[in-house]
Amino acid sequence: MQYFRYQDNELYCEDVLLKELAEEFGTPLYVYSRRQIVENFRAFEAPLVGMDHVICYALKANANLSLLKLLLQEGAGADVVSGGELHLAIQAGFPPERITFAGVGKREDEIDYALRSNIFSLNAESPQELQLISLVALRLQTPARVALRINPDIDPQSHPYITTGLKQNKFGISAEEALRVFQFAASLPGIQVVGVHTHIGSQITKIEPFVETAKFLAELVRKLREAGINVQHVDFGGGFGVQYANALRHEALPLEPDNAPPPKLGQFVEAVLPVLKETGCFLWFEPGRSIVADAGVLLTKVLYTKENGARKFVVVDAGMNDLLRPSLYNAYHQIVPLKIETYEHHRVDVVGPICETGDFLARDRMLSKVKRNDYLSILTAGAYGFSSTSNYNARPRPAEILVNGEKVRVIREREAVERLR
Ligand code: LLP
Repeated sequence: MQYFRYQDNELYCEDVLLKELAEEFGTPLYVYSRRQIVENFRAFEAPLVGMDHVICYALKANANLSLLKLLLQEGAGADVVSGGELHLAIQAGFPPERITFAGVGKREDEIDYALRSNIFSLNAESPQELQLISLVALRLQTPARVALRINPDIDPQSHPYITTGLKQNKFGISAEEALRVFQFAASLPGIQVVGVHTHIGSQITKIEPFVETAKFLAELVRKLREAGINVQHVDFGGGFGVQYANALRHEALPLEPDNAPPPKLGQFVEAVLPVLKETGCFLWFEPGRSIVADAGVLLTKVLYTKENGARKFVVVDAGMNDLLRPSLYNAYHQIVPLKIETYEHHRVDVVGPICETGDFLARDRMLSKVKRNDYLSILTAGAYGFSSTSNYNARPRPAEILVNGEKVRVIREREAVERLR
């Protein structure tokens, strides 16, 4: 997150002082660095230059229309997972031939919408879904291009809730059944089989599971071709991990326990390319987190500090409705002051205003000493931050700001209380 840095002990996003944004627009507030997003996308793309490929940004990570338009300008395609996301991708202007639609539970109206929109492919996950896609395609008299999501049974060694490529997960078609289901798909009149898809999980910080997956895919493509099924597209999915702990360093900040940074984005891609190249296929990737996570922060204000027995709490104005990840996955986000005023730390729980014990942003955390009305920044919040917000406790969703150098743009207004229903 090189575009967030301290200067004279105050935190900046690019050339903008974050405290000024917090004062002007209020908190909780999401702030994104345009340059960071562009740089992440380019780092992903660099090893792929000269090869047939599309990087389909996974909208679920953050589907703000302004960010989508920015990524479109950079040449991204779109990976969508619902009719709503498809609508946003089309609204942003993504060309249909660079849109793919994944998801274990697509409704008939969503399949209909995807086929009418003539997107590149539906990534199917079961024989029943294939049957339904074929029926809708026949009704619309348009062949449905389909890739099959195959589950390679590889352990990505990440959080169990975001592991998707294991046998026991609900996603995909098992490796043992792959050939049979491909043959079934090829026999359906409305379907044109174009490729094989996989996605083994999210926030994967090791290279090996990706390399294993690439080998699995290369072998599968070979077997399919032997069986007369000529797949020409490999969709490798997303899942590339980012650094959450120690994302920002300053001598006044406590050193966080997890010290090993994950590989750089380009290194993940470089590691799988030699294997994927062998297939001769057109390559698709679906990164979400690695493009936007470190480009976003959530600003919040300290409402109160309090002590219950031995436990110290910092009560802030952002809750689990604004950033769900800590509550849902016990996810770790570094939290830093917008202004460094002390080198002293204390061990605290950073909690939100919501009526749930599970409403916390950090637990048992060494934090710079703070007081009422101080501002804090929750780092690496650009992915699965705003996109997982809710109105729980009838709390309006936060505003979103995009910073570009010295320029500041509101890319989503704070939701008005009057609009709550
Ligand atoms: N493709 C498919 C089919 C996916 O299911 C996902 C994420 C992606 C691509 C993008 O994965 P990424 O590059 O962002 O890791 N809410 C969780 C993450 C859930 C990920 C779901 N699928 C979190 O906050 O960590």
